Amino acid sequence: MTHRMVDPGTAEILEGYGRFVVPSYSRFPVAFVRGKGSYLWDAEDRRYLDFCGGIAVNVLGHASPIVAEALEQEAGRLIHCSNLYYHPMGAKLAEILVRWIGAGKVFFSNSGAEANECLFKLARRFGEPRGAFEILTAQGSFHGRTLAAMAATGQDKVRQGFGAPVPGFRHVPFLDLAEMERAVGPATSAILVEPIQGEGGIRPATRSYLEGLREICDRHGLLLLFDEVQTGAFRSGRFLAFQRLLEGSGKETGFLPDGIAMAKGLAGGYPIGATWIREPYADLLGPGSHASTFGGSPLACSVAFAVLQHMEEHGLGEQIREKGERLHNELAALISADRGLIRSVSGVGGLLGVQVRRDARTVARELLDRGLLVAPAAENVVRLLPPLNVSLEEISEAVAILGAANREEEETT
Ligand SMILES: Cc1ncc(COP(=O)(O)O)c(C=O)c1O
Repeated sequence: MTHRMVDPGTAEILEGYGRFVVPSYSRFPVAFVRGKGSYLWDAEDRRYLDFCGGIAVNVLGHASPIVAEALEQEAGRLIHCSNLYYHPMGAKLAEILVRWIGAGKVFFSNSGAEANECLFKLARRFGEPRGAFEILTAQGSFHGRTLAAMAATGQDKVRQGFGAPVPGFRHVPFLDLAEMERAVGPATSAILVEPIQGEGGIRPATRSYLEGLREICDRHGLLLLFDEVQTGAFRSGRFLAFQRLLEGSGKETGFLPDGIAMAKGLAGGYPIGATWIREPYADLLGPGSHASTFGGSPLACSVAFAVLQHMEEHGLGEQIREKGERLHNELAALISADRGLIRSVSGVGGLLGVQVRRDARTVARELLDRGLLVAPAAENVVRLLPPLNVSLEEISEAVAILGAANREEEETT
């Protein structure tokens, strides 16, 4: 027997949320009841092309047999034990992450904010002997919604109404190395950036910026930390976006940050967070220093392992690199100099930002009405985050919907 024999209609679902669910999200008035591949169906059985992708989570699309089979198998074997003990999948998953990133170790958690929290604690442990505790982050960044992640986030609006922020975070203009170096003080222990700002509007760093940050950190004895929560799991065309951004520099094998937060797409929709820490810093977090009840459960690790292995075996990074470029080019071709909805396109692979001439939320709502789901980012940017196995036909469908919206806007302005 299933707990969901008959789905209620949209109105009833929305009413239930209104009465019983904390209203902390501003949700679009649609309720989804099932998905398959790149599509979702609402409670009235209307189909939508999903280029929101759970905000960069559904890397293999909806109802992926890879995810479903891994879930089913491990659920019938060992869902959870405790971090008081060992299980085989934790080491196996950590091993492939280390193989794809560099010599180091991994701490498992359940979300992006938690993956960042591990970086914050690492930075504090690292700075402790000399009394340093401060992390410099970028203006326009987003690092999550816990108190510390909110303090790290370079956007005042997320902190409003919550009193004094957690101390030890300062925000510096993004992509400005001189300002970053000027901001370093005796209390600074680390620099944390997103290699491509996601919520901030798909703003990629340049190769020279990342290399410059590494130099600043080396000169001042700081940790260089990357938040790849949104950009990781092959979305950029490489496993991590910093690897993609450094391509062609000749430093690809040599350049490493000291810590990386990952989450979102790692297990194709099952919650997991992972923090990679470069050797020798991983051992700063010794026994008793950090923990999570659910983090690194056999179930989460098994699903992530199956998803990542599938993505590697099927070259999904390469695929989304090419398809993303096609999507980028086709959208860029829609742009007219001073009219129409679309002003510009940014990003790489399956992480594209479409800068629009109106408020991003309003545009996202209008595209939803046209049957295309996108994720609003900065005020005037909507993100396209298709599954990494999206088809060329689905890309053409998205371009056709955006093209129609763009044309109508051109005609009315
Ligand atoms: C770059 C980045 N860091 C952290 C987070 C927070 O992740 P979570 O919502 O899983 O805590 C997000 C979520 O959008 C993100 O984009």
